[in-house]
Amino acid sequence: MPNSSLTFLAVESSCDETAIAIYNSEKGVLANEIYSQIPLHREYGGVVPELAARDHLRRLPLLLQQALKSGTYSLTDIDIFAYTAGPGLLGALMTGATFAKGLAFAQKKPVMAIHHMEGHLLSPLLCAKEQPEFPFLSLLVSGGHTLLVAVKAIGDYEILGQTLDDAVGESFDKTAKLMGLPYPGGPELAQLAQTGNPKKFKLSRPMTNRPGLDFSFSGLKTQTRLLIESNPNMAEVRADIAASFEQTIIDTILIKCRRAWQQTGYRDLVIAGGVSANKLLRQTLQNEVRNTNRRVFFPEQALSTDNALMIAFAASLQYPRGIDSNLEINVKARWALDNL
Ligand code: KG4
Ligand code: ZN
Repeated sequence: MPNSSLTFLAVESSCDETAIAIYNSEKGVLANEIYSQIPLHREYGGVVPELAARDHLRRLPLLLQQALKSGTYSLTDIDIFAYTAGPGLLGALMTGATFAKGLAFAQKKPVMAIHHMEGHLLSPLLCAKEQPEFPFLSLLVSGGHTLLVAVKAIGDYEILGQTLDDAVGESFDKTAKLMGLPYPGGPELAQLAQTGNPKKFKLSRPMTNRPGLDFSFSGLKTQTRLLIESNPNMAEVRADIAASFEQTIIDTILIKCRRAWQQTGYRDLVIAGGVSANKLLRQTLQNEVRNTNRRVFFPEQALSTDNALMIAFAASLQYPRGIDSNLEINVKARWALDNL
């Protein structure tokens, strides 16, 4: 944590949420504004990148006003600006980057480029009563990424495993779409699964019968598609298919987490990214560590999915390590977390 009190304003625009947050290193959260574009993309069944970028441009000035008003702050109170520089949709990232850099230029203040997945990774530390101890493990499960990471220190991340194809969130979304559920399918599928029997259909747990910490979810999507196509009485078994699919994903994740614990000997596991909102995932991992000395940490439910507060918080933790503030617009659609 920085010694002196610093106020960070962060902009997140990497996908379909427009967000601005203000965070003070001593006082904590000062503002956290999020505008979701879900209704805009829903009719297309997925995110339309060009529409996302245009809508970010429209919303950012309004969100800034709201963020400043909600805490009665002025731009002159901000010490450091930050924005999500990647990974994400290029056009969408550009809007947030230019907006944050414009503000920083006008206020003559530094501006920091933050990695979206580092924002997720650190989000469970934001309001936690206890803090995980370094080094710890992190499982990052979002719409675009599935990563198992060894966290040695802030900014020092070693990728232990990742998906070879679809990300967990992507797998939820694609399977939900096959089942006729609206975008984004992850939470919809999880809700449907609550009324189903997870033991009804046996799906194979991908990449668990060979060693290693990598994941693969595209085969599971295909297995589920075949199940859907071969069931003429789909209406009756929809919830059972959803529950069986969700259970298989969570079982697979649990197996990999156990392996990562064993392989590293670390005690703590931090789980973040949009899929960390999933109730079954939370319950399963919490049960797993009960009566052990291991601990598992999740972000607050509302901070699981994309927000700017995690970006402002990551900036506050990165700041003491030194920053490279410049006004060049340099965003990255792809950006490895072990290359910060
Ligand atoms: O982190 P996030 O908000 O955006 C990305 O960085 O990708 O993650 C969004 C992903 C989507 O795939 C969404 O379907 C999934 O998280 N998700 C869930 C749940 N809530 C969000 N997946 C399963 N169960 C949920 N409850
Ligand atoms: Zn995200």
